[in-house]
Amino acid sequence: MAASETQVGIVGAGPAGLMLSHLLHQRGIDSVVLEARSRSYCEQRVRAGVLEHTSVQMLREAGVSERLEREALRHEGIEIGVNGVLHRIPFVELTGKCVTVYGQQEVVKDLIARRLKDGGDVRFECGEVSLHGVDGERPLIRVEKDGSVDEIRCDYIAGCDGSHGISRRVFPEASINLYERMYPFAWLGILAEAPPTREELVYMHHERGFALYSMRSPQITRLYLQCGPDEDLSKWSDDRIWHELHTRLGSADGWRPTEGRILQKGVTGMRSFVAEPLQHGRLFLAGDAAHVVPPTGAKGMNLAMADVYYLAEALSARFAKNSDEKLRTYSATCLARVWRAQRFSWWMTTLLHRFEDESAFDHKRQLAELDYVTSSRAAATSLAENYVGLPLQ
Ligand code: PHB
Repeated sequence: MAASETQVGIVGAGPAGLMLSHLLHQRGIDSVVLEARSRSYCEQRVRAGVLEHTSVQMLREAGVSERLEREALRHEGIEIGVNGVLHRIPFVELTGKCVTVYGQQEVVKDLIARRLKDGGDVRFECGEVSLHGVDGERPLIRVEKDGSVDEIRCDYIAGCDGSHGISRRVFPEASINLYERMYPFAWLGILAEAPPTREELVYMHHERGFALYSMRSPQITRLYLQCGPDEDLSKWSDDRIWHELHTRLGSADGWRPTEGRILQKGVTGMRSFVAEPLQHGRLFLAGDAAHVVPPTGAKGMNLAMADVYYLAEALSARFAKNSDEKLRTYSATCLARVWRAQRFSWWMTTLLHRFEDESAFDHKRQLAELDYVTSSRAAATSLAENYVGLPLQ
């Protein structure tokens, strides 16, 4: 058994854990990042792709935006389609801000490379990790790695290990409230070797179900179809996927997505989830460990970035000025933003999807809402200001 110590033990090397470790390093605070998966798994896993204005700003200020500035795509709006008729929501005109399309795994690659370049302690392929004494002054992380067990003494622990991670389970049941909403559908997503033929993302409401046209680079498109919650991927041949994408996304102006070799296929579940509070003793949750949003509003990675921004500030005030104030308010500060993003993600989801059990009234109301959002400047501005991201407090 090996014993060591650090100021902040971080569980999970996703965007939250890595960015936190980097921000702490810049503030002279030492951390160890523990990750169950391999480095290549973390770097290849295809996830979300839209960065809010504030997230890009954060990456820029943290000095990890060099490749992003070169390769990311700046999007000044999105299109919302209703049964083939497209309407543009012009973000820059309505809010003065835009969003940036850059895959989550690209952010992860950039952060891993930077942490390692800076001599950071990031440990992949860890075995079982357990947290001890988070109520006390010096919590302990026990981690199995390469057949031995390490004990890491920490001042604080950050649980950045996703919605199925171990960190949240350390909270005593009575100390945490869980809020959850499930949706009766999922997304079948593909990554295709086909150059995007539309400038911006297309969110399409269609009688046969929602479809999304997105992209990753000038060579790669990312497309999604609303499907059943337990959809069997083996029933979806490439031909069937393209046929359905053409049917739902094909628009009145004659546009339809260009086909290409399918590089990756998967089904993404849809869930809204919040755990409150985000702190128990010296353990702080950040990112998906604390909250999950359905992907419709493109908020997941952005919420993770905002959490760790606040957490890094709070830990820095604690170590540099011996002030606990920001750590005490961390949970409430993050949750205010989280609930706004929850509301927006729920709203975008209910606006755009077909619900199996919807009444004729619900469907008419939904069409009226789409009509309102795509024709009223006030309604479009509300969508736009949430999509580009609310300012940090
Ligand atoms: C994506 O490109 O993966 C993507 C874009 C926008 C969303 C969700 C996912 O709302």
